[in-house]
Amino acid sequence: MPISSAAPHSQAAATEPSPDCPLCPRLVEFREEWRAKEPDWFNAPVPTFGPADASLLIVGLAPGLRGANRTGRPFTGDFAGDLLYATLIEFGFAQGDYRADPNDGLVLKDAAVTNAVRCVPPQNKPASGEINTCRPFLSATIDANPRLKGILALGRIAHDSVVKALGARLRDAPFAHGAVHRLDEIPLYDSYHCSRYNTNTGVLTEEMFRAVFRRISADLGRS
Ligand code: URA
Repeated sequence: MPISSAAPHSQAAATEPSPDCPLCPRLVEFREEWRAKEPDWFNAPVPTFGPADASLLIVGLAPGLRGANRTGRPFTGDFAGDLLYATLIEFGFAQGDYRADPNDGLVLKDAAVTNAVRCVPPQNKPASGEINTCRPFLSATIDANPRLKGILALGRIAHDSVVKALGARLRDAPFAHGAVHRLDEIPLYDSYHCSRYNTNTGVLTEEMFRAVFRRISADLGRS
């Protein structure tokens, strides 16, 4: 069952913003600008990809303008998606071919991919108020999954938002690549973001990224 905003109970918090979410004025203005420029693009909050009862939730930063914001699937068409989806396929968290297209038939297996901020931000940089405003959707995504066994944060911003969503304090869980934080019954794994900048500069190598997935797979009893 895909994660959706259709709450099973009227009391349940929405896991997805509405397509015309009005909560962040700057992001609304940017969205309207790109709807006018590129009417065939998705240009709306990008929903979580993957099963709602996945053991692993991967949290990125925000949709890329010409990637996820264009295609409507997290990391799809973004440079960062090449390494993310190749690694998910390698570790059995995805099946099929990743072709940077939401119609490529790629299926996530026991993993879901979302973003701390669901709308594309100008210059790829969400403001702190926007991260806070979008957090209830992240919290609801976490809370709606009773089978969740691990969260992987890609980068510090995703990490900080997950820590706050879990009700913990940042000083008790500083971001560090390769760290595992046990703040809750759900462990939080940290990785540097698999962005073009980080991979081109060697901040994150493919092997470093694989090592994070090796650890997660072992903890989930998959290897
Ligand atoms: N695309 C996304 O959907 N999220 C990121 O964090 C980066 C690119």
